[in-house]
Amino acid sequence: MQRGKGMKFVGDSRIKAEGKMPNVPKDYSEYPGKTEAFWPNFLLKEWMIGAIFLIGYLIITVAHPSPLERQADPTDTTYIPVPDWYFLFMYQLLKYEFASGPYNVIGAIVIPGLAVGALMLVPFMDTSKERRPFKRPLPTGFMLLAFAAIFYLTYESVVNHDWEKAKAQGAIREEVQFDPDSEGYQIYAGSSCISCHGGEFEGGLGPTLVNTGLTADEIIDIAHNGIGTMPANQWTGSEEDLQVLAEFLESLKSE
Ligand code: HEC
Repeated sequence: MQRGKGMKFVGDSRIKAEGKMPNVPKDYSEYPGKTEAFWPNFLLKEWMIGAIFLIGYLIITVAHPSPLERQADPTDTTYIPVPDWYFLFMYQLLKYEFASGPYNVIGAIVIPGLAVGALMLVPFMDTSKERRPFKRPLPTGFMLLAFAAIFYLTYESVVNHDWEKAKAQGAIREEVQFDPDSEGYQIYAGSSCISCHGGEFEGGLGPTLVNTGLTADEIIDIAHNGIGTMPANQWTGSEEDLQVLAEFLESLKSE
């Protein structure tokens, strides 16, 4: 009888056809320096950490919508622009005498250029195999120095910035419907008031005059005696005109 003739081959469900489980990576212990498979082990970890940060950012952006300022006005020279927090330290650097005015190039290009250039040279200058920070005093020292400088400059710019004023500058201004041909507006346009409170009452040196909630009498008083940082004696016309103007200003309400 021939070998195998008449025999039946039966599959055994306990033995995997492939012999190797999918998703269980090779054993890398024999390869020095390679301890785990890139796919899927390493990537999976990266993705999980990435997902945690992504969800974190999403929560922060939903909880704190980006602050919206009014539309940029190129004619407003009193506006003081300020960068986002991560550039505040460079913004602060440009305020120092040695880095501003005629020396702007130093603050804007030379100092940041040296810092970035040094950072790029680190791998070539610091070739030590040591990984513990204490065994690498120079790189660690420079890093701490850079951190301290960035922290200090950021702090200085935050405490020196007039946040109240910046908020007022960026505030979305009330728009109001008014009749530019009305007597009240004509008086306003011919007075000094317009130079500080704006052609459309949007404000400038002074605040907006829309929705002040002030009565005509209060406005007349302010025009004569000033208020806060507004100087007194801003009104130089007749009392009759001032009455018309004050009633007109009182009526300025948006919506
Ligand atoms: C030199 C700029 C300047 C001029 C000119 C000026 N104001 Fe003012 N005005 C201001 C400033 C600044 C304030 C804000 C004062 C404060 O609250 O410290 C102000 C505030 C006011 C307020 C109060 C607004 C509020 O919401 O409380 C009224 C009303 C007002 N001004 C009316 C007038 C009138 C009317 C005139 C013209 C007669 C006039 N101003 C001229 C600068 C000016």
